[in-house]
Amino acid sequence: MEAPQRNLALDLVRTTEAAALASGRWLGKGDKENGDQAAVEAMRVSFKALDIDGTVIIGEGEKDNAPMLYNGEKLGNGKGLKVDIAVDPVEGTNLLATGRPNAIAVVSAAPAGAMLDPGPSYYMKKLVVPAPAKGVVELDAPVMENLTKVAAALSKDVTDLVVFVLDKPRHQGLIREIRAAGARIQLHTDGDVAGALMAVNPDCEVDLMMGTGGTPEGVLAACAIKALGGEMLSRFDPQLETERTAVTEFGLDLKETLTVDDLVKGDDVYFAATGISGGTFIPGVRYTGTGAITHSMCMRGKTGTVRFIESRHNWDKLMSFSAVKYDS
Ligand code: FBP
Repeated sequence: MEAPQRNLALDLVRTTEAAALASGRWLGKGDKENGDQAAVEAMRVSFKALDIDGTVIIGEGEKDNAPMLYNGEKLGNGKGLKVDIAVDPVEGTNLLATGRPNAIAVVSAAPAGAMLDPGPSYYMKKLVVPAPAKGVVELDAPVMENLTKVAAALSKDVTDLVVFVLDKPRHQGLIREIRAAGARIQLHTDGDVAGALMAVNPDCEVDLMMGTGGTPEGVLAACAIKALGGEMLSRFDPQLETERTAVTEFGLDLKETLTVDDLVKGDDVYFAATGISGGTFIPGVRYTGTGAITHSMCMRGKTGTVRFIESRHNWDKLMSFSAVKYDS
C-alpha cells in the first residue's frame, strides 16, 4: 500500500487553462496561426511554474518551424520529475478559427522514456473503442464485423451505434461501409483527440472512432485512454510517399498494430484538457467581462481518477501580475 502521490495532472491543467484562455480570444476569427501562437505562448509561460524536468516528445514540430514547444524543448523549472511531455496547445486549429465545436488545449506527461517518439510520422489509422469492447475488435477486420462486435459488447444494435469519423476525402470508403452496416455517423472536420475521448467516455453519444488522423494526436489520446479505459488500436498510415520513406528510414514498423501500451509505456501517465471552442463534451471558454470561466478534465493513469474542473478566473486579481494578458 502507498500514500497518495503527487498528481501532476492537477499542475498540467493550469497550462491547458492558460492556453485556452489565451486562444479563446481567436474564436471564429479565421486566423489559426495567431490563435495557436497565443495558446503556445501562454502554455509555455505557465509551464515555467512547474516542478518538472520535462522534454517535449510530441510538440509543435521541429525547432526551425516551431519557435516554441518544439520537439526536444525542455519544459518546467528543471527541478522535479524527469518526464516526457506531449502538447497540443490548440488541438483543432481550424475548429478554433471557424468557431466550430471541440477545439481543446491538451497536455500529457509520462516518465522520461515512456512515450513513443513517432519522428516524421504524421498519420495513423485508429480504431478507438470503450472499455466493454476492449479486446473484441481488430484493426483490419471488416467494418461490419467490428461494428457488430462493438454493438454486442455494449448490448446495443449496430443501428444504435454512433461512429466518430473525420470528414476527409480519404474516408469516403469507410463512411460508405459504416452506412451500409446501418450504424450512425458523426462527421467532424477536425479534432480526433476529442473524438477518441468521446469514444471511451460512456457519457458521450459517440460509441467508437474509426479512421486515419494525426500521429501526435494518437499519442495524446493514448495517454487519456490509459486513465479512462477502453482501447485504441493504431498503425502508422503515411499519406504521402515522402512520409512513407521518412517513417521507414526513422525505423518505425508500418505493418505493426499498436495498442495504447505501445504508444505510452506504463500507467504513470497524466493528462489534462481544457475546452476552447466549446462543444459536445467540454464547454469552451466563456469571457464574463470581469474574467472567464473554463472547463477542463484531468486524469491520472495509475488511479483512473478523472476530474472535471470548472475554474473561475478573475481579471482584477490575475491581470495585476500575470505575464500573459488574458483580458481583452
Ligand atoms: P491541428 O490542430 O494541428 O490543426 O489538427 C487537427 C486535426 O483534425 C487532428 O485532430 C487530426 O488528428 C488531424 O488534424 C488530421 O489531419 P488532416 O486534417 O491533415 O487530415
